[in-house]
Amino acid sequence: MRIDGGHDTGRKTRIPRHIAIIMDGNGRWANQRGKPRTFGHMAGAKTVREIVEHSRRTGVGCLTLYAFSSDNWSRPQDEVTALMRLFRRHLAAETPKCVENDVRMSVVGRRDRLSPELVHAIAAAEDATRDCASLHLRLAVDYSARDTMVRAATAAQGRELSRDAFSSLLASVNHDDGTAGDVDLLIRTGGEQRLSDFLLWECAYAELVFSRRMWPEFGTADFDAAIEDFHGRDRRFGGLSRAI
Ligand code: IPE
Ligand code: IPE
Ligand code: MG
Repeated sequence: MRIDGGHDTGRKTRIPRHIAIIMDGNGRWANQRGKPRTFGHMAGAKTVREIVEHSRRTGVGCLTLYAFSSDNWSRPQDEVTALMRLFRRHLAAETPKCVENDVRMSVVGRRDRLSPELVHAIAAAEDATRDCASLHLRLAVDYSARDTMVRAATAAQGRELSRDAFSSLLASVNHDDGTAGDVDLLIRTGGEQRLSDFLLWECAYAELVFSRRMWPEFGTADFDAAIEDFHGRDRRFGGLSRAI
């Protein structure tokens, strides 16, 4: 295991161990086609399927997808309802495929504001895929990095914590088993260059790649290009370049 994240493939390339994606641009993609935003979310779900499968084939260890931020509750009610329905259907439909492909699925974020049906679907998907090990797929739903940190700090009750202990607390308030670790590569589609409250702690030394492609049109070649970009980065973690 290399300390810079990712594992050596024996060539001069290393696959990022943990990739996180801000899947942005569904609404604009749909609007450009004269369709409602929910049409874009449905098209985005197809991209999820392709990228998950491709990640597994590529040898990524963990893939965290930003599906719904805590600030997304402020969207129109019909869009929120459509998204929640889509998550529930997607979880149910993808679970057998995940088992078949040895993909472990888990959901990070708050659950107390989700419907009981969705919470049930999440638990069922997590249970069914618990022992799968070829890829860990994490979906972030009702996720806010800042709220997570506030809740973790509250849970610490004034105790002095190490970084590792704080990381464990962050995980525990998000239904997360804490195995995902830091993000090596963060990709955001849709052309915006911001984090929108995603994995602020875990991205401390992540390499950032911003793609102009809208999420429904983001393909495996774009994913490979992002990894290629990652290969060209010199990760220093505050130290000196390994090239020197
Ligand atoms: C990302 O696409 C998906 C979610 C936030 C659920 P958007 O819905 O933000 O699409 P744009 O950014 O408005 O195009
Ligand atoms: C971030 O996208 C959230 C998800 C992709 C789920 P947003 O579309 O909500 O982010 P902003 O509002 O453009 O920053
Ligand atoms: Mg957006």
